[in-house]
Amino acid sequence: MILAGRREVRSFTRRERPLGLGALATRERLWETLAVPEREWEYLGEGPRQVVLDIGFGDGESLLTMAANDLDRDYVGVEVYRTGVIKVLRGIEERGLNNVRLVEADAHDLLGKIRDERIAAVQVFFPDPWPKTRHHKRRLVQGRFLKEVVRILRPGGLFHMATDWAQYAQAALEVVGAIPSLIREDEGRGLRPCTRFERRGLRLGHEVRDLRFRKTT
Ligand SMILES: C[S@@+](CC[C@H](N)C(=O)[O-])C[C@H]1O[C@@H](n2cnc3c(N)ncnc32)[C@H](O)[C@@H]1O
Repeated sequence: MILAGRREVRSFTRRERPLGLGALATRERLWETLAVPEREWEYLGEGPRQVVLDIGFGDGESLLTMAANDLDRDYVGVEVYRTGVIKVLRGIEERGLNNVRLVEADAHDLLGKIRDERIAAVQVFFPDPWPKTRHHKRRLVQGRFLKEVVRILRPGGLFHMATDWAQYAQAALEVVGAIPSLIREDEGRGLRPCTRFERRGLRLGHEVRDLRFRKTT
């Protein structure tokens, strides 16, 4: 999207190959049932069941495992990586899950549509670290994003970020520290399983941090 003559800074790049025929067929077959269409974004979290947003679910390892172990809540996964979306569509079907639906979009676009205080939890696991200083502005977890997270979380709702990137964790702690309505909790991982990104971080000798913040009631 071009804004006022300049390109908007995105937290992702689009360098994917086009989907193959098998992937397209999966999408065609499952998308109608398993996607949250844009016209429904504003109603997310309005029903009786709690909604957890998993932003940037990648291949969906965490999303599928957590949803399978937490059937009383609904999970909505948000991702721009189309191959990941197809994998998760297949995963939902294979596991017979009824509590997962997907949005294929930039998370900022979705968050902007959700009404105030509707979401029980927002989770961002291993967001792209954008390590170069000149790319820090591309990091997902920063002021603009957190402002929307705070707005859509219910009182008592949880924001949970996991990262193996020490400087990203530090930067996130500093930004959240300036938001009085988010109170830091212990670094427990909750239902979050150990996934590819965590294993890679550990192999590289990185410390994995679970930063959890509760919205004040
Ligand atoms: C490093 S991967 C982590 C995947 C997964 N959370 C995990 O722990 O295995 C980060 C993912 O975030 C996605 N992403 C980055 N910015 C996003 C945005 N603004 N909206 C939706 N997805 C985004 C990327 O496409 C990528 O798949």
